Formats: sequence, structure tokens, C-alpha cells
Amino acid sequence: MRRIGFLTSGGDCQSLNATMRGVAKSLYKHYGEEVELYGFLEGFYGLMYEKYRILKPSDFSGILTEGGTILGTSRQPFKMMTKPDENGSDKVELMKKTYTGLKLDGLVILGGNGTHKTSNLLAGERLNVVGLPKTIDKDLWGTDMTFGFQSAVELATNAIDCIHTTAFSHRRVFIVEVMGHKVGWLTLHAGIAGGADIILIPEIPYDIEKVVQAIEQRKGAGKRFSILAVAEGAISKEDFALSKKTLKAKLLNNPYPSISYKVGAELEERIDPDTEIRITVPGHTIRGGSPCAFDRVAASRLGAAAAKLVIDGNYGNMVAFQNDEIVPVPLSKVAGKLKSIDPKSSIIEEARSLGINFGD
Ligand code: F6P
Repeated sequence: MRRIGFLTSGGDCQSLNATMRGVAKSLYKHYGEEVELYGFLEGFYGLMYEKYRILKPSDFSGILTEGGTILGTSRQPFKMMTKPDENGSDKVELMKKTYTGLKLDGLVILGGNGTHKTSNLLAGERLNVVGLPKTIDKDLWGTDMTFGFQSAVELATNAIDCIHTTAFSHRRVFIVEVMGHKVGWLTLHAGIAGGADIILIPEIPYDIEKVVQAIEQRKGAGKRFSILAVAEGAISKEDFALSKKTLKAKLLNNPYPSISYKVGAELEERIDPDTEIRITVPGHTIRGGSPCAFDRVAASRLGAAAAKLVIDGNYGNMVAFQNDEIVPVPLSKVAGKLKSIDPKSSIIEEARSLGINFGD
């Protein structure tokens, strides 16, 4: 009998269930009744404190299209993993104890950047780990695509589409803030797909005067509205030039709930007073609902590929998309690296040639 544990960790996304289904279906197909699947609840927390349930084939029925995660998830920052829990217990030892106590042969972990650091830590402790690249942010090193990204792009694009009609009617400037943590992939893709006029991303610090110019130019050309897609991590040139310490201190007195409100206030001071500015923050809605078709395929393929690593005993890897093939990438290489947008990459060049302004 093979015993394989599953857990989902970090922020959720639309295709966690679809991915687990892909792994489970492939394992059941290979092992038949000779495999037992353990689902740890609420991420690494379940592994630490033996909170799990035994999963049956029926648990994976009908979940291809279901967003969220049937196991629940939680954020367990990597830096806290090496700190004792509230009872003074070593968290890594607790996880190892659960793993050996249940006589697990392997652990399938679905997560993003922080998760893969912990997965790599566990692999270093000789646990048999296979990682799967989940995140709407697409900021994982070693893979061209992460599952969850495309579904979030669809929803963020839809938000921009909806703003278009109302922005046109009222002749307004609209700022749509898109998640993405420290990178701009989601905003860039949704911005291009939604026809945003200005896109602000962390990888290209903005100059507010340039943003104003772009808006004024559009007005001068007779355009009724301007739409800005702004990444939650977007940063001004001025702030970017500050040391981390000074910026942190400055942000302590930051009166704005998020970057869009800062950009909105900066614009308000500069553009002609007749132009109304509105801000829309779709927030977590872009992580919700059903996975899009692209993500269902990606999730199913990645799931099947992860199952193959389990079957082959090829542990210590994350399954990754590279040139439309799925390949194993060592967790040790993935852990701790962020994949951000190269401002010199062709997608930025192409966007610029479409007339999109990056505020620089
Ligand atoms: O990593 C996914 C993500 O949605 C980021 O884009 C965002 O910064 C963060 O999670 C939000 O985290 P939380 O769900 O904990 O508010």
C-alpha cells in the first residue's frame, strides 16, 4: 500500500482542486486500490498537528470546476517555520513526526513562493516531497506558467472591461488595482487584455508627471476616458530610490489604503479639476470562482506529471512548465527565487508599441 499526503498552502486560487484531482486520478489509475491518500487540513498546520482526513476517489469527483480548496489553506510564513510553536515545539519536527507516524511514502504540496521554501526545507529533512506551482501571481522561478494565473487574468480583465463602459459614459479617469504581490504579471496581462491605457507595475517605477502627461494627451486627442491598470505593488520612482529602511518608515505614515489611492491623490492634485477620478479594487474576487479552461488543462497536466514523479520516486522536485512541456525542477533551485518581469522583455516592448504607457 502506498500512502501519499496532500496539502494546499498559502493564498488559494481557482484550480487547486482541479490540480489535486489530476494527481489523485493518475495515482488511482496506476495503483488502483493500493494507494491511500491523506489530505492535511489548512496547509502545513494540518501536517504539524495531525489534522487530516483520508480521501476517497469520491472526494475528487466534481471538483474540476470548483474554486478554492477542499482541504482548506493557511499562510504559514517560512521564517516562522524555524521558530517554535506556542507550546515550544519544533514545527519541522512536528511535521516529520506526522509524516513518519502515518508511514507516508510521499507528500504532494501545492503552493507558491513561501510554500516551496518550506517544501525544500522538508525535502532537506529527507521527506519525499513533490511540489506543484500554484499562484495567481505567476512569480515562481523555474516555470513559465503557474496554475491560477490565467483564471485571475480573466477576472481582472473582466473588471477592466466593465469599467470601460462606465468610464466612457462619465468621461472619467479610472484606476483599477490588480493583485500580484511584488510582481506585475497579472496587471500586465489583464491590462493588455482589457485595453488599459496606462499600466503601472512594480518592475517599472512610475513618474506621476508622465502619467499625467499620458492622460492629458488622451484628452487632447478627444478620448473621453483613461483607464489605468495599477498593480498592488506598483511604486513611484521617488519611493523606489529610497533605501528599504527609509521607505518602511515612510509607509508607517502612509494615509492611503493601497497604492491606487496614492496614485489617485497624486493625479487629483495635477490634472484639471473637471476630470473626475474613480478607483476600483477587485481584490480577492480575482482569486475566486471557477477555473478557466486554460487552468483546468494546466492543472490536470501538472497533476498527472506530479503523480508520475511520485510513481517514479522522483522526489525533491516541483513540476514546471517549460516550453509547453512539463519538467521536474529541483525544489532547491525554486526555493526563495522570485520571477519578476524584465522591463526590457518583448512583452513590454510590444505593449509600448500598442501605445500603452508605463508611467516612465
Ligand atoms: O499570492 C496571491 C495573493 O493573492 C497576492 O496577489 C496578494 O498580494 C496576496 O495573495 C493577498 O494575500 P491574502 O489572501 O493573505 O490577503
